[in-house]
This record gives sequence, C-alpha cells and structure tokens, in this order.
Amino acid sequence: MEKHIQTFLNKISYLAITIATFTLLLVFLFQTPPETCINPNHKPHPRSSCDAAHRPITTIEKKNHRLWSTHTWRKSVDSFSAIFNDLRTLKHISNHTHALIVSAGGGQAVMSLKEIGLHEITGVEVVDSPPLVSRADPHNLPFFDGVFNLGFSAHLDLALFPSRYVRELERTVVVGGVIVVCMEECGNGEMNEALKLFRNSKFSQAKNVTLMGSKMTMIIMKRIKSREHESIQTISDLIYFASKWGRNKRKRKRFVAICYDMIWNLWRFRNKRLFHCENISVHNGLERIKAMTFFWVKHRSNKGMCSWEEWLISPFYDL
Ligand SMILES: *[C@@H]1O[C@H](CO)[C@@H](O)[C@H](O)[C@H]1NC(C)=O
Ligand SMILES: *[C@@H]1O[C@H](CO)[C@@H](O)[C@H](O)[C@H]1NC(C)=O
Ligand SMILES: *[C@@H]1O[C@H](CO)[C@@H](O)[C@H](O)[C@H]1NC(C)=O
Repeated sequence: MEKHIQTFLNKISYLAITIATFTLLLVFLFQTPPETCINPNHKPHPRSSCDAAHRPITTIEKKNHRLWSTHTWRKSVDSFSAIFNDLRTLKHISNHTHALIVSAGGGQAVMSLKEIGLHEITGVEVVDSPPLVSRADPHNLPFFDGVFNLGFSAHLDLALFPSRYVRELERTVVVGGVIVVCMEECGNGEMNEALKLFRNSKFSQAKNVTLMGSKMTMIIMKRIKSREHESIQTISDLIYFASKWGRNKRKRKRFVAICYDMIWNLWRFRNKRLFHCENISVHNGLERIKAMTFFWVKHRSNKGMCSWEEWLISPFYDL
C-alpha cells in the first residue's frame, strides 16, 4: 500500500517538473518584449548625467582659466610667493625641494611654488581641485614617513584636531626638513601653545606676515630626529604609533593587535594586583602577554598561522 502511494507521489512530482520546465520554455521562446523595452535601433540610453546633457560642459581647463585670471587669485598667489621667496633666501627651500601643502584650498600656494621654480609639489585638501590639489585628509595623510623636505600649511588654526594635524606633517617631513605653518596673527602666549603641538621639531623662527589679505603669524620649525619613546606617552599615542608602523600592512595589523593585547593585559594585571592582591612579576606578565596574543591572533585569523614555537622567535614569522 505504502509503496503504491510513494510511486504515485513520485509520478506527480515528475509531472510537476515537466510542466514547470515546459512553461519556462514557453515564456522564454514566445514572449513578446513589453512596451518599456528599449528598441535596439534607438540611441543608447544615457549612462551618466553628462551623456544626456545637451549644453556644452565646462571643462576643468576653462573653469581654471577663468578662476586663475581673477584679481583675487593673482593677489593670493603673489602673497604666497613673497613668503616662499623669503624661505628661499633663508635657504629653507630650493628648486629641488619636495614640498607638501596641506589645507591647500584652491591651490594658490601650489601655483606660487611652481612659479618660483620648484618641480615636486604636492597639494592636498579635503576637496580636490585638479590639477593643483588632490584630495586627502590632513589628519591621515596618504604618504610614507619622511618623503617631503617642506611641509606647509597656511591654516593651522582651522585644523579640526591640531595635534594630529601637526603630527601628520611631522611624520611626512624628513629629518632636517622644515615645517612652516601660519595662523591668525597672535602674541607669544598663543604661539607657544601652537609650538607645544610639535613634538619632533625645533623652533626656528616666527614672523608676522600678510597672506591672502589677512595678517598672520608664520612659524618655521626644523624637523629633528624623532624621539618616539618620548612622544609615546598615552594609550592613544601608542595606538597611533602602531597604526603608522612599518610598511607591511599585514605586519602592521599584527603589531596593532599586539599593542591592544598588551594594554588590555596590563590593565588586568593592575586590577589583579590592586583588588585581588595577586603578585604578577614583569617576567610572568610578559609571558602571559605573548601567550594571550598568540591565541587571540590565531583564533581571529581565518588562514593558517605560525606555530607557537615560531611565534616565540618572531610574532611576524609567517608574514
Ligand atoms: C630655479 O628655477 C627657476 C625657474 O625655473 C630658475 O629661474 C632658477 O634659476 C632656478 N634656480 C636654481 C638655483 O637653479
Ligand atoms: C606679531 O604681532 C603681534 C601683535 O599683533 C605681536 O604681539 C607679536 O609679537 C608679533 N609676532 C612676531 C613674531 O613679530
Ligand atoms: C612579589 O613577588 C616578588 C618576586 O616574585 C617579590 O620579590 C615581592 O616581594 C612580591 N611582592 C608581594 C607584595 O608579595
């Protein structure tokens, strides 16, 4: 009896499959295209808003030509040129200087440096203005350490996070290079506040200047050798240092993990000492950090990773 039912059910499902397949075939073979379909003989559908536009589009060249020929633009560029010529006289820049301009605005400073003969100029701003200025966050510059000889900003006082802003400038300027920043004209008190932002540079000179029609105080700093161990004083300093460490992305990621693990464990050790009167020696603590990080990284990585023995030789063994 049961067998009969099963055979019957099987037959029904075969029938259902056959009907479904047949229907699908019919749909594909004999369906007439709906009204909304595009007639292939027509002009192609516009793919972007520019394709559909009938009016001529203003090219960047035309727009720039118009902007650059204004009186305001010329005056701005000239005010930068006065400053840069001054820096040249002071031997801070030459034609071979690799210059970085942050908060470059429309690119007046970039144009000015070009005009006085520099070849390698990079201008960045949160909004790009081709061809003079490209887009980058001044708090997280997309450049390696020490690649510029001059770091320049005319708007230090407008920075969202001044200490991070200055740190990025210092990071990208080579030891021996100069960092020049301008801010609204100020007395010694405010200037000293600004100087405190620089951790790896030495004060060289300050001047009151006129830039783009405003009175400003310009500070010239000489980039000196990093004292990284001195500049890491807080947890965020450490995490920042780790996030910029080295040039290998995968090694850096692991280094950041080690730093987080270390901080977390130090916190635990402290609590154990304070609240549970447990005595954890430095040696013991270090061993635990090594072990904890190993398991942490191992369980978080989806690919295989080095063995415990290899990890002890170097935590970057497999990278
Ligand atoms: C720097 O470049 C400018 C413009 O190209 C040129 O006039 C000047 O002589 C150059 N200076 C040096 C020292 O090469
Ligand atoms: C710039 O001018 C201010 C007054 O507006 C003055 O207090 C300050 O000392 C001047 N700075 C320099 C470097 O001359
Ligand atoms: C903690 O241990 C170290 C060595 O293991 C010992 O010298 C020290 O006296 C201990 N401290 C406490 C508070 O028990």
